[in-house]
Amino acid sequence: MSDQVSSTPVDAPRRATVQPWSGPAHLSPERVEEARRLISLYPEPRSALIPLCHLAQGQDGWLTPEAMVDIAGLVGVTPTEVLGTASFYDMLHTEAVGSHVVAVCTNIACLLGGAAALLEHAEVSLGINVGGTTADGVITLEEAECLADCDRVPCVQVNHRFVGAQTPESFDRLVEDLRSGARSEEIPGHGTLNRVRRTVGLQVDPDQVASERAEAAAAQAERAAAAVAAKSAAEGSGGGTS
Ligand code: FES
Repeated sequence: MSDQVSSTPVDAPRRATVQPWSGPAHLSPERVEEARRLISLYPEPRSALIPLCHLAQGQDGWLTPEAMVDIAGLVGVTPTEVLGTASFYDMLHTEAVGSHVVAVCTNIACLLGGAAALLEHAEVSLGINVGGTTADGVITLEEAECLADCDRVPCVQVNHRFVGAQTPESFDRLVEDLRSGARSEEIPGHGTLNRVRRTVGLQVDPDQVASERAEAAAAQAERAAAAVAAKSAAEGSGGGTS
């Protein structure tokens, strides 16, 4: 056997050329303004990444690559980091979905309550497999883990709103309603969060946030100074005892 080492060079890591971000190009001015307000609530801009993903998903119904570029620029990370984070969460969709994401829970309580038969019916009646979207772009079918509504089985959610236990018959009526828009008030298009629609309720005062941050920074500096002083004192008193 030859002990010659191959002369083939190891590939250097290849990096996509990152274009300098020149400002939001995809998110609407209103969403950008809201994004900046959200960022101001956190000590670090990148901490607002998830809320910004929801904000963008509310605009497009899913998290588009263009939106991820804007989010990355706004919080100071790369689009790949946005994708890497967003793809971890079930509520964030990094591929196009229908205007209504219908989730059927197949966890144990729902399974015992007929979830498998309901899911099979859904696939047949919609003409798609789990994960697919109907040709009219209205329904994306998902299989979900426990949705925490185990006393109403099999549990179904549409755009993360509970719609109660469903039978195959009621499921078909639900789909008809979604297609006709009969439940659009109760179940808005995918990506619309309740808190985005809220106009009253808990609001954080930016001045209060700034003052709390200043207090926290001062307390941290005080603790650091005390730790340095304690260390110096310990070194001073213990220097000749070894
Ligand atoms: S098992 Fe289906 S909601 Fe809990």
